[in-house]
Amino acid sequence: PKILVLISGNGSNLQALINAKEQGQLKAEISLVISSSSKAFGIERARKHNIPVRVHELKSYYQGIPKEEKAKRAEKRNDFDQDLVKIILSEKPDLVVCAGWMLILGEKFLQPLQEKNISIINLHPSLPGAFEGINAIERSYNAGQNGEITKGGIMIHRVILEVDRGQPLIVREIDVIKGETLESWEARIHSLEHQAIVDGTNKALDELK
Ligand code: GRF
Repeated sequence: PKILVLISGNGSNLQALINAKEQGQLKAEISLVISSSSKAFGIERARKHNIPVRVHELKSYYQGIPKEEKAKRAEKRNDFDQDLVKIILSEKPDLVVCAGWMLILGEKFLQPLQEKNISIINLHPSLPGAFEGINAIERSYNAGQNGEITKGGIMIHRVILEVDRGQPLIVREIDVIKGETLESWEARIHSLEHQAIVDGTNKALDELK
């Protein structure tokens, strides 16, 4: 089977998938990495392992269109989503893995992939039903330190229209430690992610229709 990995930044979860692959623990080839930023360090990680990379940047679609022109930008966003679908469909992967992909995947993206029966999973650094969206790690850290929650964690879930609300495949928890630094909390979350991304990808591959 073939997977595509979508990234936007550091790519430490992509690295976990690459490492698993090289240790014979990933049940698929990583046939392409797509990055939403030309500056993503994850690009170097892929290059080092001879994995093809495509940069697909939203800002090049928005070129010359001021922020205020909401309608025009929405149109361009649709073009971005539809072009992303074209790249993915041309690769014909069995599974798309969002590993630190920081853009919302809208209807124009999900619909065509569902029609082609291409599964999409996402890694989100919070437990189901908590801290959807950006800065989840920092928000859960603050909630832990002010006593709102006693546990945090991560999940690998199926991607649906509602952001970070799809059916979880893998859920991993950690306990809040009072007085812990954000860096320490973040490091514990990331180490959970790096194992979960491999297990979640293998599980999604096992469940392919
Ligand atoms: C991770 O915390 C991931 O869960 C979130 O963005 C971060 C990116 O990590 N979506 P990396 O780019 O894989 O290092």
